[in-house]
Amino acid sequence: MTETLDIKLGVNIDHIATLRNARGEKFPDPIKAAEIALNSGADSITAHLREDRRHIKDEDISNIIKKFPGKLNLEIAANEEMKNIALEVNPFSCCIVPERREEVTTEGGLDVLSNSNYYKNLNNILREQGIRTSFFIDPVVDQVKSSIDCGVECVEFHMGKYCKLFYEDKAQAEIEFKKIHDLSIFAYESGLEVHLGHGLDFDTTKKVTDIPCLQEVNIGFFLITDSIFSGLENSIKKMKDICNRDF
Ligand code: PXP
Repeated sequence: MTETLDIKLGVNIDHIATLRNARGEKFPDPIKAAEIALNSGADSITAHLREDRRHIKDEDISNIIKKFPGKLNLEIAANEEMKNIALEVNPFSCCIVPERREEVTTEGGLDVLSNSNYYKNLNNILREQGIRTSFFIDPVVDQVKSSIDCGVECVEFHMGKYCKLFYEDKAQAEIEFKKIHDLSIFAYESGLEVHLGHGLDFDTTKKVTDIPCLQEVNIGFFLITDSIFSGLENSIKKMKDICNRDF
């Protein structure tokens, strides 16, 4: 494979909702974040509607769908409640992720292999409605093969392990990178779109652009945290001007 594909950027806005909910306010508004992301060149908006609604809420999902048609990549757990919500709101894309109530964030990929009939059926139902389907899996060959058997359109590899190794153990990171690189090519040549997500920052994203068949990255936490430091100075100066009564 010689051709190099364009990489789309999906911006995950969950953590804007986390901040909003921490104070029980109406701001920061995830819809405003989605608008800024799309106006800044993001290709899609990713949001994970969790069972416990700890960040994104049902109303956020309907507002994103209403305001930005064709832009929502909805992340959901594989269960009846979420399947029905996806069918009702009809996002352009649905990424199926594992979910455990007690986890801080999505800690690993789906085990498609052990439950392939269920995932195959869920995938068929979503695809029949024209929703693009994606499975969030660890970069493991059997999980890729099982995802292919399910007929899913995209796989998104969980990058958490690689992103940690990138800063903690360069040699192991290179081994992990090679695995992700080769599996991406295998998935792509088997007809899947290849996406990457979880834990990516500027440096790790720069590195994964070396994977020629990579078509999408989904990034949230780093972008939201980085924007604090790229914006804090402005906000403080503006407030100081107000305090100085010469604003
Ligand atoms: N992709 C998927 C499937 C996710 O579940 C998440 C959030 O865990 C992300 C991408 C974004 O990860 P992060 O917020 O670490 O950039």
